[in-house]
Order: sequence, then structure tokens, then C-alpha cells
Amino acid sequence: MPRLLPMRVDILSLLPGMFGEVFDHGIVRRARQAGLLQIETHALTGWTEGRFQRADDAPYGGGPGMVMRVEPLVEAVEAISGLDAAKPRVVLLSPRGRQLDQSVVAELAREPRLLLVAGRYEGVDERFAALSGAEELSVGDYVLSGGEIPVMVVVDAVTRLIPGAVGDSESVVRESFATGLLEHAQYTRPPVFRGREVPPVLLSGNHEAVRRFRLEESVEVTRNRRPDLFSTFAGHGAAASKPNPSTKEKPS
Ligand SMILES: C[S@@+](CC[C@H](N)C(=O)[O-])C[C@H]1O[C@@H](n2cnc3c(N)ncnc32)[C@H](O)[C@@H]1O
Repeated sequence: MPRLLPMRVDILSLLPGMFGEVFDHGIVRRARQAGLLQIETHALTGWTEGRFQRADDAPYGGGPGMVMRVEPLVEAVEAISGLDAAKPRVVLLSPRGRQLDQSVVAELAREPRLLLVAGRYEGVDERFAALSGAEELSVGDYVLSGGEIPVMVVVDAVTRLIPGAVGDSESVVRESFATGLLEHAQYTRPPVFRGREVPPVLLSGNHEAVRRFRLEESVEVTRNRRPDLFSTFAGHGAAASKPNPSTKEKPS
């Protein structure tokens, strides 16, 4: 069912200029144009230039780098939250957060409104999350120099799950992770290139045979490349035994 109102995503960042190009292309742009998604970026400097002067300060206890100050962040989140009747789910991008995966993306895509906060420097004063109700979200076990790219990752992944944003909604239902498995291999023309053939079953026109072939492929590629996912899919402790693909289309 399409949404009655667009999903609203507010972004708070010290470098809002980074987002323009990224949100002006592809599915994100189409979703915005179709009225499915509203993105508002906010410069944190709007809350630092007056009373607080600066967004960062030296860490208490010493150590390298600077830490983002709590006061402008909290005031900014309060002000931005009040810009719309829907209360936003506030998310601070942080390598220490819960790790983003497709189930978290699906959870976020059901929200009417998100407020994504990008950190910089050595991170954000710990009191910010408690005072703003922000949850911390990581895009992976590596450290980037700022939260802007993680924000882009979240917006892109969430947009794909807004009903109507992706032309063929079947494709998001069948993509990697949506079923608990990695996606099967994809092919397009020509049928033979430099001696490499497209699997003949895909040219057979037999829809049931194609479905079974793809499912078996998905199971195999997941087993080989992501034993962690495969083990969840196949059931606890069953990773070593080959599942019957016809009975294992959905994770339990
Ligand atoms: C240089 S990082 C701070 C890293 C911090 N000193 C640490 O060791 O956890 C600056 C900002 O980039 C963002 N960031 C970096 N890596 C991230 C990741 N894997 N997931 C989400 N945000 C990340 C966060 O917003 C963070 O506040």
C-alpha cells in the first residue's frame, strides 16, 4: 500500500553540502519527485554560530582530536523535531552502534519520519544520545571520517523499501538478504560471450524450472560465501547439512 504522506527524512550534519548530488540521482531522486520521500538537510552550524561558537571541543580526560559538543546537537534535534507533526525516530550514525542490515532497513522504512545525525571528529559527546533519545547505528566494522556517507547508505537502502519507490516491487522482495539468502546470479544478453554460456535453464521458458534453479543457486552461493547467513537460514546447528531447497524458501 502506498503511503498517504511522504516519508520525511531530516539530516543534521556539519557538511550538508555532501548530500546534494547523491540524493539527486536514481531511485532516491525518483522517490522524491513522486512525492514518496521528503529529504531536509540541516547545517549544524545553524546552532553553533551564536551562543556556542563552535561544534567541537577538546575531550575531557585528554586524548587525540576533538569531540562534538552536546548543546548544539541537542538544541538542533529539538528544533528539527518540531518542524513536523510526526515525531522523528532519531538515529546517530556511529561505529559503536547496532549494525545496519536489511532487517534494520525494513524497520526504518516503516517509520513516518527519521532524523539522521552525522558525527565528525572523534565522535559525539556521550550525553547527546541519552538526552535526544537517539539510537546509534553503524554501517559496518570500520571507521569513516564522518557520518555523512553512512547517512547516504541508510537513505538509499530505506528508499528502496518505500512502497512504490522501486519500479518492480518484486525485485526488492527477492533481493539479497530479503529472503535470508544472497541473490542468485543474474544474466542478460548475449547468451554466449567469449565461450561463457548463460545456464540453459534460464532460456528454457520453464518458469518452475527457473524458480528452482535460482533457489538452489541462492542456497549454494550463500552457503559458500556467507556461512553465517546460511546457518541462520538453515536453522540452528543445521549448517553442515544440505537443506531441501523446496522447503526452505523463507527463514523461520
Ligand atoms: C572518525 S569517526 C569517530 C570514530 C570514533 N572515534 C570511534 O573510534 O568509534 C567520526 C564520525 O563518523 C561516523 N562514522 C564513522 N564510522 C562509522 C560507521 N562505521 N558507522 C556509522 N557511522 C560512522 C560517526 O558519525 C562518527 O561520529
